[in-house]
Amino acid sequence: MRSFLRSAALAVSSLLMATACNGNTKTGTTENQAESNMKKGKILVVYFSHAGENYSVGNIKVGNTKLVADEIARVTGADTFEIVAEKSYDMPYSALIKLAREETRQGELPAFKGSVENIEQYDTVFIGGPIWWGTYPRVMFTFFKSYDLNGKTIIPFTTHEGSGLANTVEDLKKSYPSAKVVNAFSIYGHEAQSDLSKVDEWLDKQGYTK
Ligand SMILES: Cc1cc2nc3c(=O)[nH]c(=O)nc-3n(C[C@H](O)[C@H](O)[C@H](O)COP(=O)(O)O)c2cc1C
Repeated sequence: MRSFLRSAALAVSSLLMATACNGNTKTGTTENQAESNMKKGKILVVYFSHAGENYSVGNIKVGNTKLVADEIARVTGADTFEIVAEKSYDMPYSALIKLAREETRQGELPAFKGSVENIEQYDTVFIGGPIWWGTYPRVMFTFFKSYDLNGKTIIPFTTHEGSGLANTVEDLKKSYPSAKVVNAFSIYGHEAQSDLSKVDEWLDKQGYTK
């Protein structure tokens, strides 16, 4: 975390950013995946990801966490819900760092777009996001306040540049004291851009085979 922050403070950028797309639920695809869904119960992948200018990877078209979330959905046949903030995070990295720090300090709960249909139908929810100042971005906490996932299995994942899972597992347990929070996974954001084999290995260990 400290080394990330030190580097982040030094990072200077002039690139433009692209924004994430609208929040909505997408349904998993192939027949084999659907079959696997039925065997293991219904799965949802909830994630936040920020495309555009980011630390270590430059100006990316698809956010690091989105790449991981899409891979999980592809392998497991899960539905997906992308948390997209109503406010815009379309700004240079250096400005976003400051804004996110302020949101974290103030414990803000930024609104998000869209909704999940029938959250009750899901047995397992993968929850993923980047690490922003030591945990998930604040808008994800708005989602946690909006949907009760107690009683479900929650599988956390993060992309990061040095902090790993940071406080995400503890924060999820606080949000959902009677959920089963298991099998947490983290991967460097820049690694997710080029190689998702660790994601596949992690899924494989849980019985989700490609
Ligand atoms: C506002 C902001 C704060 C960040 N804070 C951290 C941090 O505390 N620790 C860390 O390892 N990485 C931090 N990062 C790096 C991101 O976690 C990393 O680049 C992540 O892969 C981005 O994923 P995304 O493209 O899905 O948004 C931060 C990035 C941003 C934009």
